[in-house]
Order: sequence, then C-alpha cells, then structure tokens
Amino acid sequence: MSKLQNAFNPVDFRKNGHQLIDTIADYLEEVNQAEMPVMDRRPPDEALEDWNQYISHNNTSTDFYKKIIKHSMHLHHPKYMGHQVAPPLPDTMLSGLLVSALKNGSGLYEMSPLSAPMEKIVTDFFSKHIGYGNEASGFLTSGGTLANLTALLTARQVKGFGDIWNEGNPEGKQLAIMVSEEAHYCVDRAVRIMGLGDAGIVKIPTNGKFQADISQLEETYNNAITEGKIIFAIVGNACSTSVGAYDDLEAFGAFAQKHNLWFHADGAHGGAAIFSKKYKSLVKGIELADSVIIDGHKMMMTAGLITALIYKNGKDSYRTFHQKADYLWENSDEEWFNLTKRTFECTKFNSVLEVYSLIKNYGVDIFDEYVTYTYDLARVFSKMLQANSNFEIAHKPESNILCFRILKNGKTPTELNELNAKIRKQILHDGKFYIVQTMLNDAIYLRVTLMNSFSTIEILEELIEEILTISKQLNF
Ligand SMILES: Cc1ncc(COP(=O)(O)O)c(C=O)c1O
Repeated sequence: MSKLQNAFNPVDFRKNGHQLIDTIADYLEEVNQAEMPVMDRRPPDEALEDWNQYISHNNTSTDFYKKIIKHSMHLHHPKYMGHQVAPPLPDTMLSGLLVSALKNGSGLYEMSPLSAPMEKIVTDFFSKHIGYGNEASGFLTSGGTLANLTALLTARQVKGFGDIWNEGNPEGKQLAIMVSEEAHYCVDRAVRIMGLGDAGIVKIPTNGKFQADISQLEETYNNAITEGKIIFAIVGNACSTSVGAYDDLEAFGAFAQKHNLWFHADGAHGGAAIFSKKYKSLVKGIELADSVIIDGHKMMMTAGLITALIYKNGKDSYRTFHQKADYLWENSDEEWFNLTKRTFECTKFNSVLEVYSLIKNYGVDIFDEYVTYTYDLARVFSKMLQANSNFEIAHKPESNILCFRILKNGKTPTELNELNAKIRKQILHDGKFYIVQTMLNDAIYLRVTLMNSFSTIEILEELIEEILTISKQLNF
C-alpha cells in the first residue's frame, strides 16, 4: 500500500480518534479544576524554534495531541476572561469533527445536500428570535467581519443610488455610513474595502455610557449632508466591543426610517441576547434593522467560526452579488438552496451542523442560560469592584464585558495608565488568569469578558486579590 493510501486507513483513524477524544475529555476535566495555568506563555521566537524542532521528532499521536493542548490558550479555563471567544461546547467539537470528515462544504445544493436545508432551519430560528416576519431570511458566513462587510455591500446596492455592482461607486458623490465611535474596527475596514475611504465613515459621538448619543444623530447627519456626503446606512452596536454597550436600536430604527437609510445591527457579540429572557430587552428594536449579524463563536459557544447574517427582507440578500458562473449554476434565479449566490464564500464549510445540533439537543435554553449566566456574573463582579475602594469601574456592565482599573492616591493619569498596563502585563506573564486591556477617554482599563459558565464569584475574588498583590509588588 502506498504511503498515501495508508494515510486513509480506517484502523489508524479509529485508534487515533479514540485517543484524541480521550485526551480532550481528560483535558476538559483538568482545565475545569483551574489549577493549571490559563496559558503556557513563552516568547514567539522560542515557540517557533520548539515547533521547528518538533516537526522532525517521532512522537506518538497522543504525545502530539497533549503537546498541542499544553501550548494552547485554554478557553475552557474558568480564569480565561480575555477576548470574546466562547469555550466551545463538547457537542460542537464533535459536530466539527464530523463536518471535517465529510467536508460537504460547498454552498451549492448539488454538492452539499446537507447545508442549505439545515441553514434555512437555523437562520429561520435566528429570524424568529430577532422578531422578524415571514419575509426574513439569511445565511451563515465566516465571522462577524465578513458578515458586516456583506451586509454593508447589500445596503449600498439597495440604497446607494445606482447600480453600484456594475458601475462602481458613483462618480463625484461621496457615499458614507454612520456608526458610533465605539464600533468594532471591522466596520471601518468594510467601508474602506468598499472604496469609500476615510470620508465614508461618519462617527456618531458617544454618551457617558459609551452608547451612540442619540441626541446627536440629527446634527451628525446634517453636518455630513452639508459636507456633500450621501449617507446610505447606519450601523448600531449590539453591543460594542470595548465595553459591551448597546446602542438604542429603537431610536436607530426610527432615524433610519426617517432618512431612508439602511439600518444594520452589529450583534456579533451581544446579539445573542435575543435568546435570553432576562436580557432580551437590551436589544429592543433589533427587529427594525434591515440586517442583523450574530456570531456563533462568541455568545453561542460554537467551535467553528460561524456568523448568522439575517435580512428583514430576505429578497435583499440576493441583491448583494450578481455573478455569472456557468460551472456552478444554470440561472440567476433566487434559489434559497444555492447559498453561494448570496454569500461571499464559494466553498463554504458546513459548520451549520454545530448550531443545528445545539438547537436539536438543547433548544433555545442553552443559549438563554449561557447569556444570562455570563451577563449576571459581570453585574456581580461590577458590584464587588465598586465595594472595594482600590478600584474604579469605567461603566456599568450591560453585557458580560467589564472595564475597570486600579486607583492609587496621588498618582497622575499617566502613572495610573502605567500601573494598570504593568499589572496586566504581569498577569499575562504569570498565566494564572487571562484578561486584556483597553483605552477609554485616554485612560488604560483592565478588561474582562466573562465567557465561561464555570467562572464563579470565588474566582473573581481571587482575581481582585491577584491584582492587589501585583500592585503591591510593583511598589508603584
Ligand atoms: C461588535 C463586533 N463586531 C464584529 C466583530 C468581528 O467579529 P469576528 O471576529 O467574528 O470577525 C467583533 C469581534 O470582536 C465585535 O465585537
């Protein structure tokens, strides 16, 4: 048997597969004890050298799996509180394996009879919880960045004054969108990719809660019009990245309707609040949006990079791209089952299985419980910090994101920034916790996103102690 044929042999696959599942199960048990470091931190050059040497070692598969785990960031660790990536549910890991085995990835029904029906069921599930009517429809794409770009491309084609797909941006006219200054950078990136440049993004100032200041919407719009810009869309944060603030989506909806704008809701992180009985009110008005995105890999615990892009009027989703591809499809009809007509991707991984199986196995309850628990925990943590005179919170948490900093009497703003940045660096170095930082009104804040349903109040108490100890040791 050739090396290639042998590489497909099911006997080794079965053996290695069993070992892999056992290794992951052991890992899940161990990581929950929170005694191992949340990551094994080493300098990039050292890691590069290690992996360079390792590639020629003769190790068992289990050794290889264990080494990979050892050198990874441990999202399942109860002390992981960093960027907005959820620990994947075991169900989604298994679905991911099956998806990889079958690789039925194309967005063409003919190539993948599994994807489109499942995607229709899953996206209808999102539509229902958003509060859309029967005309709504959507699809899944690879991440919030691509989903925001796709939604804005649709918006420009629908509202952008002319057939931009065929003729390009209208000459002598500056198209632009409005979005809060707290938006994720990918909105700005999308606008620039669309060839609208710096002038294509009109920032709405924020209020004291880091939400778009509704009282400034009209003035911001009028100033842009006076400068000769044509605003075709407004993007609402649901919620924002840095502090997790929700814009007033109802007010955005009314404003968009008044000025005939496309209203897009970026719910990459906090859109999943639609599933929480307790926190659904945060996204009041989301059903007014022409398009909504929600990430599965953030607040829905999928392993794969999965973003739902849902349109209030599903027909709009067919207006984004107009491609002739005789090798793929025979006509330009609106076919819900040929997803490539609407998605950016051509070959498209069938990751919908992860969400489909979660809905099948647990129903909406699993998402409700996750969002509610993590959002509750951020509120508890905020109270703990407020009760401690060493700390200041930057905002009351609306989601599971909280920014705070340590204070010290007599220190200048620059010294406080230095202190908080040093604390965060030390935490990173020690590896017991993983938290990040951000800059708000020129001040550096420590930032946690409580992504783990096994993080507890006791663990948050430990984090406070850890920060205070480091602060003392720094002797600042
Ligand atoms: C509000 C918001 N929008 C978009 C994104 C980008 O999403 P992705 O990382 O899936 O591309 C993020 C990522 O953190 C986000 O917080």
